[in-house]
Amino acid sequence: MGKITIAVDGYSSTGKSTIAKRLAAALGYIYVDTGAMYRAVTLFALNNGFIGTQDDILGLVKQLPKIKLKFVPNKETGRSEMYLNGKNVEEEIRTMKVSRQVSKVAAIGEVRTKLVEMQQQMGKDKGIVMDGRDIGTVVFPDAELKLFMTASPEIRATRRYKELLDKGEKVTFEEVLKNVQERDRIDSTRSISPLKKAKDAIEFDNSDMGLEEQFERIHEFAKRVIGKGR
Ligand code: DC
Repeated sequence: MGKITIAVDGYSSTGKSTIAKRLAAALGYIYVDTGAMYRAVTLFALNNGFIGTQDDILGLVKQLPKIKLKFVPNKETGRSEMYLNGKNVEEEIRTMKVSRQVSKVAAIGEVRTKLVEMQQQMGKDKGIVMDGRDIGTVVFPDAELKLFMTASPEIRATRRYKELLDKGEKVTFEEVLKNVQERDRIDSTRSISPLKKAKDAIEFDNSDMGLEEQFERIHEFAKRVIGKGR
């Protein structure tokens, strides 16, 4: 059966990665979390003093060739984890410290060019489910299946808040909600590749629907699209 490219875009904490990961596992496809790549570059920028209290975007851009990103499967869980210059940073890139700065780094043209090229290379043989913000619009505009996930900011912040509490982060719900809203604003208004629904993407709102139920629908839909291309 011919393999296709599946683009999953949408706002932060809409369950994109949960759906995309399960879809990839069910179809035997590769899963790529492009948010992890923007987060890893942000961690590099924080660790090297390029962002934070004072921003040195030019300095960061100059250092881009030195940033090596790799997804490596965890031997125990089988899940792929992000490595930044040889170090496993999977946990660190999900902290609020990184979330607070990531939209700023993701708005830098040179950063996007580098990461988009890597993403296109990863998906060149199809058989991939990639989640992000610009996958259906910029990275794979010809993807056979494009999904656009939404949910209300309050529902998304509640999910994110629970995840962070489970990881032992000390955050307030208000702070998480503010971060979700602020990232929505920056991600959808930036001049380069803003977050927007591709014309041919199918929108799924999961404010009132469990991710399990939604996954079943999307999986059935994906199988139909793959079947059509046979
Ligand atoms: O999916 P996430 O929340 O982990 O993504 C982190 C940030 O990275 C998000 O605020 C916007 C940015 N991003 C992007 O600009 N383009 C992508 N393809 C993926 C993420």
